[in-house]
Amino acid sequence: MEQYIIKGGNPLVGEVEIGGAKNAALAILTAAIMTDETVFIENLPDVSDINVLLEAIAEIGATVERVDRHTVRINGSTIGAVSVDYEFIKKIRASYYLLGALLGKYKKAEVPLPGGCNIGSRPIDQHLKGFRALGAEVTIQHGAIMASASDLTGSHIFLDMVSVGATINIMMAAALAKGYTIIENAAKEPHVVDVANFLNSMGANIKGAGTDVIRIRGVESLHSTNYSIVPDMIEAGTYMCAAAATKGDILIKNVIPKHLEAITAKLVEIGCEVQEFDDSIRIIASKRLRRTHVKTLPYPGYPTDMQPQIAVTLALAEGTSIVTESIFENRFKYVDELSRMGSTIKVEGNTAIIDGVEKFTGARVSAPDLRAGAALVIAGLAAEGITTVDDIIYIQRGYEDFEGKLRSLGAEIEKVSTEKEIQKFKLRIG
Ligand code: EPZ
Repeated sequence: MEQYIIKGGNPLVGEVEIGGAKNAALAILTAAIMTDETVFIENLPDVSDINVLLEAIAEIGATVERVDRHTVRINGSTIGAVSVDYEFIKKIRASYYLLGALLGKYKKAEVPLPGGCNIGSRPIDQHLKGFRALGAEVTIQHGAIMASASDLTGSHIFLDMVSVGATINIMMAAALAKGYTIIENAAKEPHVVDVANFLNSMGANIKGAGTDVIRIRGVESLHSTNYSIVPDMIEAGTYMCAAAATKGDILIKNVIPKHLEAITAKLVEIGCEVQEFDDSIRIIASKRLRRTHVKTLPYPGYPTDMQPQIAVTLALAEGTSIVTESIFENRFKYVDELSRMGSTIKVEGNTAIIDGVEKFTGARVSAPDLRAGAALVIAGLAAEGITTVDDIIYIQRGYEDFEGKLRSLGAEIEKVSTEKEIQKFKLRIG
């Protein structure tokens, strides 16, 4: 079992480069199979979620050629099956995007119902409502979603809640439907816009992505494209919080500062200095930070995927902060782990009441999920002494070379898997 071992206390200082957005890439890779022509995708993050999805796509017969660590060539003309194996959907929820992609292209898809996820119950009723509105017959049989249609026809769809996944899935299917589709109450996240841009670069006709009304005029077929994935705002935000929590000074490169505004605003509010440039952002935290309130909301609100990271930062700030999680009900599982490092946080329903402490002390903790795992690493970087983070398999789902990038900022962090390696680390750092 791999772990991170961290000797905390060093302020992060230096420059770090952000990769492509995992959550955009997951959808774009599935959308790539919607043409029979070859699609070339760059700026792909090398993280396990992406690598598993590429396997799932290859498994249904698409030709997947990894050109280099961040570039892939995909050809969907060789697809032989419209049914996806449960092994993949179990490992990676986002393979449900294959529903929209396969249904759009072949008017038929069979994808196992994604199981429960550790950040809360995650229904997909809005995805299915959208497919039905486009004329598909959708049933659930033997644990799988079976969707089929003789023809998909454009429709006017009003989502009951803002859902990234439903917006993207419906957009993909509607791109190859007959006629005009309108998605109201659509998600506005940068990765929704990125998927729309990608589909448009393949010949789709999608307008309004990034607003809450998306209009799609269906086209007959899609064609080849070369596309580069948008920078990952959550990876960038995670380094922003790491700089804030360790009282560091870092320049984060290859970002779109506009996408980071909600995070920037909170960090400025609590006392960080943030400088924005064209495609980079600098965070300077020179003194103890102040309390604030944070509530997660769909974009452009404060992202749920950045909730644990800001909570860890606030747990070291002066005064009492309140963090409200309004998207997923089970995203406070790191709180018990963090309390082992000396934090004082009380969770009541979807609210965490955080009494800031002067310092954390290193402890052995376990990553409960991807973002919470990253937050515990931040806690370890800020803590006095040694922290080990178990179950880093979650963190590796979404952060490329997390330890390497942190080390380049001056952090003492190592990925280890044996007691010998742990001892070696301890000897080295003294
Ligand atoms: C995406 O999940 C992201 N995953 C999540 O990132 C992210 O936390 C989430 O959006 C919110 O930003 C990917 O992009 C692969 P939703 P998704 O549909 O699409 C409810 C990470 O750490 N809902 O926007 O599954 C749902 O329960 C991950 O990278 C329904 O009720 O999220 C939630 O309360 C974790 N019915 C809310 O809507 C539906 O049919 C928003 O979920 C769909 C959603």
